Amino acid sequence: MKEIAVIGAGYVGLVTGACFADLGNRVWCVDVNEAKIESLKMGKVPFFEPGLEEIVRRNLKAGRIFFTTSYAEALKNAEFIFIAVNTPEGSEGEADLSYVEAAAKEIAKHLDHPVIVVNKSTVPIGTGDIVAEIIRENMANPSIPFWVVSNPEFLREGSAVHDFMNPDRIVLGSTSREAAEKVAELYAPLQAPVIITDLRTAEMIKYASNAFLATKISFINEIANICEALGADVKVVAWGMGLDHRIGPEFLGAGIGWGGSCFPKDVRALAYMAATHGCHPQLLRSVIEINQDQRRRLVHKLRSLLGGSLRNKVIGILGLAFKPNTDDMREAPSVEIIHMLQHEGAKVKAYDPAAMENAKAILNGVEFKEDPYQVAEGADALILVTEWNEFKQLDMERIKNLMRKPILMDGRNIYDPEKMRALGFIYRGIGRGFDGAGTSGGS
Ligand code: UDX
Ligand code: ADP
Repeated sequence: MKEIAVIGAGYVGLVTGACFADLGNRVWCVDVNEAKIESLKMGKVPFFEPGLEEIVRRNLKAGRIFFTTSYAEALKNAEFIFIAVNTPEGSEGEADLSYVEAAAKEIAKHLDHPVIVVNKSTVPIGTGDIVAEIIRENMANPSIPFWVVSNPEFLREGSAVHDFMNPDRIVLGSTSREAAEKVAELYAPLQAPVIITDLRTAEMIKYASNAFLATKISFINEIANICEALGADVKVVAWGMGLDHRIGPEFLGAGIGWGGSCFPKDVRALAYMAATHGCHPQLLRSVIEINQDQRRRLVHKLRSLLGGSLRNKVIGILGLAFKPNTDDMREAPSVEIIHMLQHEGAKVKAYDPAAMENAKAILNGVEFKEDPYQVAEGADALILVTEWNEFKQLDMERIKNLMRKPILMDGRNIYDPEKMRALGFIYRGIGRGFDGAGTSGGS
């Protein structure tokens, strides 16, 4: 059992803290957000992440996890301090480090025994050195030793607990191999390969991994667009490609592109770092551009199907979260699509199983409905934006009969084009034959 403090009880920090507690450690989570801490003390996770609340409650009951807004309380006996605060995007695409810096200053202020500071927040290359510098400069007692380790997270929202407990690898970067090995021991029960390297290389592994995954998606989206022009089906193309072990099947899902709290910000931050250090990140720039175009293409296709104008058309949106199994609306493609539709004069109705409260706070003029059927009622078109499981088994005949016009834009390719056409829909997927109309022709 180790004593761990986690700074920041958001997606990354809370999953990290709760999972370490579940592995038998004593964990203190500290956050500046009082409402969040109060809710967590009562075993209530203030955001949607499958399985997380159960783990938090189990460990609260077992006396292994504690929540506080007091740094003094959280850091008192900590052997390891994980920094897991947010790193939002600055105005030019750079990462805003003010929260990480604030956390480092608080650590310095309360440091009265040797400790290993582990950075989990996604931070620009070189931040590990900056954190060490801030702590050194602000320490009340400069004779106390501390070590900084970079330990990037690879947790996907919606399956973060599973990803934490079943990692592909543990990446640890530090100037001290001994410190990195001590952090590796925390992960020993998970039996994953461990990479120990320097701080900057560890930080770069995180950016390069996310940029590669985003590239894979933008690649298949470009192929999807070519498939539409040449009459091929991208779903089968991706299947055929993915069976090659060198390529692999994951992150080859063509659609309206990537969003969320990581890919957009990380790819832009990497491009920014490259450009400001004399490199020319042309691939990363294309990856970003292809992603933006995917949403525009969908709206463009819909406009054509509706006779060239979206004015006063009623458009139903199925799914708002940036991906299924989360209520996170950060950089959700739905937001950009809805803004484009509204800008062209369309009326928008929407439903999401988990993200409606968060969506209401950022989307104006949208009619939020209680289920997919209410969204379909009187709609001139439906756009499937987020592939929640509950949308895969809808009564599509009922949906069609409720609509004013049976136009179905499948932004995530979850429906069978043949079946949808047989039901009478004017179906458009992404990259599924000529103009997205499916390999066998169709409407
Ligand atoms: C990502 C990383 O995967 C994870 O390792 C961590 O670094 C945090 O960021 P997350 O953003 O939670 O995780 O979700 P992920 O499953 O990676 O999906 C990101 C976006 O890509 C979503 O908008 C998703 O819809 C999109 N996506 C994913 C596709 O468009 N096609 C795919 O095939 C896969
Ligand atoms: P992520 O998705 O990266 O985990 P979140 O925004 O979900 O990001 O969570 C970050 C958490 O960090 C928030 O709960 C926020 O209140 C907290 N936080 C930000 N700055 C500090 C700080 N200096 N000390 C403690 N907590 C902080």
